[in-house]
Amino acid sequence: MLSYRHAFHAGNHADVLKHLVLVQLIRYLGQKEKPFWVIDTHAGAGAYDLDAGYAKKLAEYEGGIGRLWERKDLPAPVADYVDLVRRLNPDGRLRKYPGSPLLAWWTLREQDRLRLFELHGSDVRLLRRNFQDAGKRVVVEGSDGFAGLRALLPPPPRRAVVLIDPPYEEKQDYERVIQTLKDALTRFPGGSYAVWYPQLTRLEARELPQRLKRLPVKDWLHAALHVREPASDGFGMYGSGLFVINPPWTLHDTLAGALPFLAETLCEDAGAGFTLEQQAA
Ligand SMILES: C[S@@+](CC[C@H](N)C(=O)[O-])C[C@H]1O[C@@H](n2cnc3c(N)ncnc32)[C@H](O)[C@@H]1O
Repeated sequence: MLSYRHAFHAGNHADVLKHLVLVQLIRYLGQKEKPFWVIDTHAGAGAYDLDAGYAKKLAEYEGGIGRLWERKDLPAPVADYVDLVRRLNPDGRLRKYPGSPLLAWWTLREQDRLRLFELHGSDVRLLRRNFQDAGKRVVVEGSDGFAGLRALLPPPPRRAVVLIDPPYEEKQDYERVIQTLKDALTRFPGGSYAVWYPQLTRLEARELPQRLKRLPVKDWLHAALHVREPASDGFGMYGSGLFVINPPWTLHDTLAGALPFLAETLCEDAGAGFTLEQQAA
């Protein structure tokens, strides 16, 4: 039984970090003519109404995309991402938010392909509806994204960005991320893999970045953004991170220009800040 619904969290600070980095990863692969795939193992519904239902209830987007919406001084990669969000909001009022599948789709070219996995029955229905006119370049699977990834690797063009973005409500997700990557790296060592994780006080979340660094890869980048101090009772997500395996060489500098701005703009208390580190062979 899946209880997580991304609609509660759409457009929050964690989506801002994840989606900004995703767009940059895809833009980088798009610099060469050769086709590539984007594989999103945990795709969600694809798009969310911010002024209705789940999203309105928690209004987490107000502390994320909402704080960027009216700003005229956005660093270039942040502006690039916010401009994509504007596509769903042509009248200028922030009412809808695109998930990773739509952001990826808008960033792909004619020769590229999108593969999406989503296990939740209602979300996969919405996802299919959001891509009903997209044609054969997009394939939506209503099945387990960890297993699905295994079956797709290596992708035919031998170039791909893989986003791994589980809900982590079940602690098995932490272990499955590690095991899935170990397997994926044997099948397709040259892929770009972006793993999102929540910053929580629970042990598995705190250990995940260190476990990712111990994977057999030479090049990685780790970017994290925390918007507040961890709560004293240990509850709640205070930030999130992305661990990118085989990142573009330009990504570190791109994020060095964006993360200080995001930490300042999305901060909720004096404990806000960011991490940006990399290992390059
Ligand atoms: C954090 S949300 C995804 C958000 C989306 N990637 C985005 O950025 O817009 C995680 C999604 O994974 C789905 N899910 C949970 N377990 C899954 C699994 N094993 N395989 C595929 N999807 C799963 C959940 O239903 C949820 O919609």
